[in-house]
Amino acid sequence: MTQSELSADAARNRDVWTAENAAYTAKQAREAWAQEEIRWGVFQKPEAEVGALPDVAGMDAVELGCGTAYFSAWLAKRGARPVGVDVTPAQLETARECQQEFGLDFPLHLGNAETTPFGDASFDGAISEYGAALWADPYAWIPEAARLLKPGGWLMFLTNSALLTIVLPDKEDLPATTTFQRPYFGMHRQQWEGDTSVEFHIPHGAWIDLLHENGFDVERLVELQPAEASTTRYTNIATLDWARQWPSEEAWIARKRG
Ligand SMILES: C[S@@+](CC[C@H](N)C(=O)[O-])C[C@H]1O[C@@H](n2cnc3c(N)ncnc32)[C@H](O)[C@@H]1O
Repeated sequence: MTQSELSADAARNRDVWTAENAAYTAKQAREAWAQEEIRWGVFQKPEAEVGALPDVAGMDAVELGCGTAYFSAWLAKRGARPVGVDVTPAQLETARECQQEFGLDFPLHLGNAETTPFGDASFDGAISEYGAALWADPYAWIPEAARLLKPGGWLMFLTNSALLTIVLPDKEDLPATTTFQRPYFGMHRQQWEGDTSVEFHIPHGAWIDLLHENGFDVERLVELQPAEASTTRYTNIATLDWARQWPSEEAWIARKRG
């Protein structure tokens, strides 16, 4: 992958995730890889309570923005054949170390989730857990996911909720407020003060139109509500009290028409 193949935003995010890897994700990856149960989001809600995953046994699945690839590892343990794609070499290096440490092997590809080298209709599933879902442009990566999926293919992505995005303060790393901080209509490319990364968030209506235009039917929008006694290490996003009242995270589940 050469610099010229990367958009300016993808290159910025790669630099940010190189630093995040050194700061914390390499350590957190081991905890996530070791976990047997699938847990959703920053409050770690168990899949047994969320019920968002289909039977993935035998599924060829691509993870777009796989990071340290723990979600792919969870799918592999359930019989799927994942392929991880990520733009940050350090994140994939940690994923490779975890593969060795945990004795699980699947392909990891260095590249931009918005333009992958895989053939048309080569996967049964496409997922993103806070990967492309938040860090890549939906108007690029959703068409790419549609291209990669077979008819009937399953798309699932988890990201911050649209509601959260409009109530976070401008300055990075401050938790959700209870007042609107920016317009909902027109939101797309988002940067926080004091942070060089670039996020992407669009309104619900725009997600539904984009998915529909790319051949998907939306099956579910899972708005995650943490249980009463939940804890999170990400108190910079939303407090438990906030997230108990309003959705801070949302998982979209769609099916490619076929
Ligand atoms: C929050 S982490 C992903 C979390 C992931 N579930 C894990 O197992 O670590 C976000 C990841 O998205 C990746 N990313 C950001 N922009 C990307 C892009 N355009 N293409 C592919 N990966 C991207 C980053 O390199 C980073 O590893």
